[in-house]
Amino acid sequence: GAARPRLAFLGTGYLGATYAICFAELGYEVLGFDVDEAKIAKLAAGQVPFHEAGLDELLRTNLAAGRLRFTTSYTEVADFADVHFICVGTPQRGDGMGADLSYVETSVTNLARHLTRRVLIVGKSTVPVGTAEWIEQLVAKHTDPELGIEVAWSPEFLQEGFAVEDVLRPNRIVVGVKSEWANGMLYAAHKGVFDLAATEDREVPLVVTDFATAELVKVAANAFLATKISFINAMAEVCEVAGGDVTQLARAIGYDPRIGNRFLQAGVGFGGGCLPKDIRAFQARAQELGAGEALRFLHEVDLINQRRRSKVLQLAAELLDRRSGPAGPDLSGTRIAVLGAAFKPNSDDVRDAPSLAVAAALAKAGADVHVYDPQGMENARVAQPALHYESSMAEAVTGAELVCVLTEWADFRNADPQALGELVAAKRVIDGRNCLDALLWARAGWEYRGMGRPAPAV
Ligand code: UDX
Repeated sequence: GAARPRLAFLGTGYLGATYAICFAELGYEVLGFDVDEAKIAKLAAGQVPFHEAGLDELLRTNLAAGRLRFTTSYTEVADFADVHFICVGTPQRGDGMGADLSYVETSVTNLARHLTRRVLIVGKSTVPVGTAEWIEQLVAKHTDPELGIEVAWSPEFLQEGFAVEDVLRPNRIVVGVKSEWANGMLYAAHKGVFDLAATEDREVPLVVTDFATAELVKVAANAFLATKISFINAMAEVCEVAGGDVTQLARAIGYDPRIGNRFLQAGVGFGGGCLPKDIRAFQARAQELGAGEALRFLHEVDLINQRRRSKVLQLAAELLDRRSGPAGPDLSGTRIAVLGAAFKPNSDDVRDAPSLAVAAALAKAGADVHVYDPQGMENARVAQPALHYESSMAEAVTGAELVCVLTEWADFRNADPQALGELVAAKRVIDGRNCLDALLWARAGWEYRGMGRPAPAV
């Protein structure tokens, strides 16, 4: 019944696995489904197939408690759950712009074919607006209308590294529904979240809306965040020519609560599996709908983001005293250490990582590039096999004529410039995340370059 609906999460990638585990933790009976047998076997054996703080332990305790199971069978998942969350991937299409919905189509179709009673199917993956209506048609085509199966939409806002917190203690829940029944089912499916908040004297705002709005909320939020980052990176570009310091500028404008100080970190820009892909897919969809002009600025947001990557190359050429031709700088014969491969710290994710893109560009310009990252090495090797990978920060910087810090891991932020100075061939550093103590490094004899801030006067 709706008091404690049984939940299924279809697609046990980053999103689905995290949700399945956290909702079991909230006390629900949960079944995780995936077509990937290896992934399901791993999860069933208590191993999270990716790195996310705190998740391993929750997986094991909830498996042990019997609230959480995993399957590759559509029959089993269709029999089990009252609410089915669709969490499969929506990768970028071959054309580089729109989203590929083939996994959504396959999972919904196969699930629908096996359903024998009234359930709710809830979309969670990031999709183009209009997808919920399309899923509704798919479901209608593959199920008996007598069953009264309904569709709803509920976007997620997970940040890697904080995913467990974001699921257990979200700052809002958004649901797009068409009926009171669907609304009630979704409320019941989230009651554990509301109950937890109540015990902690918090409230989780609930926004109940239509399909289109619910779908748009997710991409609008990501577009806003991407814009905020590109805004401060644009200010960094201006600071570079005007002689200003973007870190102080960000601090100063961030005190205005209307602006806020978060997501104003200038640097080598945004990456990851969401922001870059989502702003492109959003533009493509708006174009299809005839509102391309409304999102034209997102193209500019993307360009600013790409320019920050090129800026690192330009700074490298400058520091190494290499001339830049029309094809970019020639860095042949130089040895460069790149610290950071993950798109952000506390993650092993290298998808669209600015750090790895810059490392590859430096190598393409002829440099001998040695990369180190505390968590992202395995994924980086697959994404950029031609680079050299070292097993420690010390090994990466040994003999380097330039060190580029491109992901702000605590290990790098707290590194001792004196000690590192003894390993390198020349003390030059590009702080691609403005995360180092510039004065400390300059005093240790390093030639320091940040992003959008002047070199420190020693
Ligand atoms: C993002 C959204 O934050 C999340 O709500 C959504 O559900 C998925 O996309 P995530 O991809 O995990 O989450 O990363 P996030 O922490 O948002 O960082 C994205 C990128 O922006 C990173 O490459 C990060 O380095 C960069 N960034 C972030 C900046 O360059 N400056 C900032 O001030 C903040």
